[in-house]
Amino acid sequence: MKKVLVVYYSQTGQAKSAMDSVLKPFEENKNYQLDYLLVKPKKSFPYPWSYTQFFDVFPETVQGIACELEPISINPTNNYDLIVIAYQPWFLSICVPINSFLQTPEANLLMKDKPVVTIINCRNMWLGAQEKMKKRLLNLDAKLVGNITFVDRSANLVSLITVLAFVLKGTKEKFMGIFPKYGVTEKDLAHAPVFGKIIMENLENGQLQNIQPQLNQQGALDIRGNLLLMEGRGRALFPLYANYISKKGTQGSEQRKTRVRIFGIVLPTAILILSPVITILSRLAPLLAKKKFSKEIAYYSQNSLRE
Ligand SMILES: Cc1cc2nc3c(=O)[nH]c(=O)nc-3n(C[C@H](O)[C@H](O)[C@H](O)COP(=O)(O)O)c2cc1C
Repeated sequence: MKKVLVVYYSQTGQAKSAMDSVLKPFEENKNYQLDYLLVKPKKSFPYPWSYTQFFDVFPETVQGIACELEPISINPTNNYDLIVIAYQPWFLSICVPINSFLQTPEANLLMKDKPVVTIINCRNMWLGAQEKMKKRLLNLDAKLVGNITFVDRSANLVSLITVLAFVLKGTKEKFMGIFPKYGVTEKDLAHAPVFGKIIMENLENGQLQNIQPQLNQQGALDIRGNLLLMEGRGRALFPLYANYISKKGTQGSEQRKTRVRIFGIVLPTAILILSPVITILSRLAPLLAKKKFSKEIAYYSQNSLRE
């Protein structure tokens, strides 16, 4: 009997359905025991979010500051053959609940020397969050062996609108009847058990360290040039603005609300303006800096951290 620990957080069930689809082959196999650990913040995050609540979590998310969690329901001395983490990026960083779990003594015990597969569910920007995940796992002495991503496949500006309707208004169907439904498609979810099968076969053969190229062949990672450039801008600027806001006060405080609201206007506007420019640049980049560009894509297609 092999034991798998599945650590997850999901506000509206998107990350959970991606994770359930990937893990279907494990659920159907009697030789596997799956233990689920739903990470629960003591003070739960709202859904739908108000505009201010949404942008007010930005500084601490980017800075990686932990929130308090409900006691962890798994014995931390359990010995697992594999650990799966299903999470969402928030503001190009690991979402606060999962990032908080990774900072607990229990995570330290559970994850040391263990192989880890991450399952990401998001709009379309996960590169920065996964870089932070690589760092966290390295600090825990865990071994990241695989990454599978589930994204909204619409154009960037379309999903910018539908994700805002999704998180701020709770719109789960087609926004205004004309926009596509936000999130991962049924087709992508139906394909997901293929990834689970790859993980399982390689776990059986002791070859887990070789799974990423096989996962990639099945479309586990969708790295788009325009988003790679766009995320690069965000990742450089976000820590500066996060500090600017948190200088005024802690989460929820009145003193920082003006700065939070300004950010809430600046960010979507910047994406709106920069998105077409960056899309054009990203079409040129493979021509102008072909080598560098394909090197970047190759880097984000694997699981080790840049020197
Ligand atoms: C506070 C917040 C910030 C987000 N930031 C990002 C982001 O940086 N990149 C991205 O692709 N999606 C982002 N999203 C979308 C989520 O990754 C995800 O699609 C959504 O929360 C649904 O996941 P769930 O149902 O499992 O909670 C964000 C969502 C929230 C609530």
